[in-house]
Amino acid sequence: MDVVSIRDFSREQIEHVLKVAEKMVPIAKGEEKSNLLEGKLLGSLFYEPSTRTRLSFEAAMGRLGGRTLGFDEPKGSSVAKGETLADTIRMVDGYSDAIVLRHPQEGAARLAAHFADKPVLNAGDGAGQHPTQTMLDLFTIKKLKSKIEGNHVAILGDLKYGRTVHSLSEALSMFGAELTFVAPPTLQMPKEHLKRIESMGIKPKMSSSLEDAIKNADVLYVTRIQKERFPDPAEYQKVAGLYKVDMNMLKNAKKDLVIMHPLPRVTEIDPEVDATEHAKYFEQAFNGVPVRMALLSLVLGGSK
Ligand code: NCD
Repeated sequence: MDVVSIRDFSREQIEHVLKVAEKMVPIAKGEEKSNLLEGKLLGSLFYEPSTRTRLSFEAAMGRLGGRTLGFDEPKGSSVAKGETLADTIRMVDGYSDAIVLRHPQEGAARLAAHFADKPVLNAGDGAGQHPTQTMLDLFTIKKLKSKIEGNHVAILGDLKYGRTVHSLSEALSMFGAELTFVAPPTLQMPKEHLKRIESMGIKPKMSSSLEDAIKNADVLYVTRIQKERFPDPAEYQKVAGLYKVDMNMLKNAKKDLVIMHPLPRVTEIDPEVDATEHAKYFEQAFNGVPVRMALLSLVLGGSK
């Protein structure tokens, strides 16, 4: 099975992944050993920069006794000679048991899945989707809040170009969370996603005020303005640094507000916030390992 879009998953399937991920935690921490994926190879193709996603996939594979091959930037591969994505995928399909792909073009993972016989995992396709990030986000919320439904999640930042929030807001709607989208009007959630969310019976609030949104939030999901996706740098300058979560902003927050961020952050969360009980983004980043272990074991046929 491929992991291309969160839309391809039912709530039950996602819940199953989260359950398997929970069992993977001691192995992810190195406290228990596993050879579940011994002899398996993961082809890892990153056409865009990555730290957490690439390394946590590698960690996940390694902790389960499997191995990873691939590139972390296309310059050193035949992509630089003009090879098409379809051809590269056909090759790596023969060299590995599953393929994880990050690519700047929306739809790239779907295309790769078409050309590959082996399972393809989407590690981000342009401004499209980032389903494995969403699963680790859901895992984090469930762990910290004991359930997902009923929580009021405020999602802040670049909702137009941010793939993490496209996948996440659709998944949260599936689970019955309350949503507030906080962004300048030019970076609000695209209509396509709003329609999808509304079709699941969720009526998200739209706001441009972080101050207002923070008061009612149980979870504040902060994102970076996706500078690299702006066609016009002048447009980026207009919105850069517009929102900042700092100690002052947190004065009106609920005591048990959880702050998440897919990372990397630029200026949108003041480092002072790191020392508060609210800051859960590093724990969230760790959760990428057990969740990706669960996904890899499921698509590669190992079970735990
Ligand atoms: C995100 C991405 O690549 O979409 N990073 C990640 O995978 N954790 C978020 C971002 O780059 O802002």
